[in-house]
Amino acid sequence: MSIHQLGRSSFGDPANAGKLMTIQEAHQLLEAWVPNERLRLHMKQVAAVMKAWAIEREGADEQTALKWELAGLLHDADWEKSPNDHCRIIIEELERHNIDPDVIHCIASHGPRYFGVEPVNSMDKMIYMFDELSGFIHAAALIRPTRYEGLDPKSILKKLKTLNFAAQVNRDDITDAQSRIDTPLEEIIQFVIDHQKDVA
Ligand SMILES: [Fe+2]
Repeated sequence: MSIHQLGRSSFGDPANAGKLMTIQEAHQLLEAWVPNERLRLHMKQVAAVMKAWAIEREGADEQTALKWELAGLLHDADWEKSPNDHCRIIIEELERHNIDPDVIHCIASHGPRYFGVEPVNSMDKMIYMFDELSGFIHAAALIRPTRYEGLDPKSILKKLKTLNFAAQVNRDDITDAQSRIDTPLEEIIQFVIDHQKDVA
């Protein structure tokens, strides 16, 4: 598998600002494109955390919270069907459906090192932050007998320093993402735990 830089910095049409799909439509797209249940769960978890952050930390209204949720839910939608064109395929699909450019740019900026698109606004920065962290925390919860119950953010911080645990999670990306926002990592980890633990 290789990931290609997108080679563009502008996404969607500004005339489509405010045009979104419903969360049900996004779930249908996921069902159609992502047979892997584990990967679908990852996207649902990132969506739940994004939506919660928008509402609780950014004071977002319903429409804005839906943008955050849609970006989270669809950010890896093409991963399974087109690993060699990951990100480009879902971006083009959303452009074809005239979706709000904010949602598309957010998805495009979820891995700046891979896709070559820098996170600009808070929604972009948080998807980058939550993406790797969410998967890492879930991996850490799965190996505990009580799963999320009593999971301490400090133990996650410790595991991040244990490089052979969930080795595929790039620690540099987590450090880089955190350096772009004001919230301490431990607080973000607690937020992720609280908002993804019940996602099924
Ligand atoms: Fe992801």
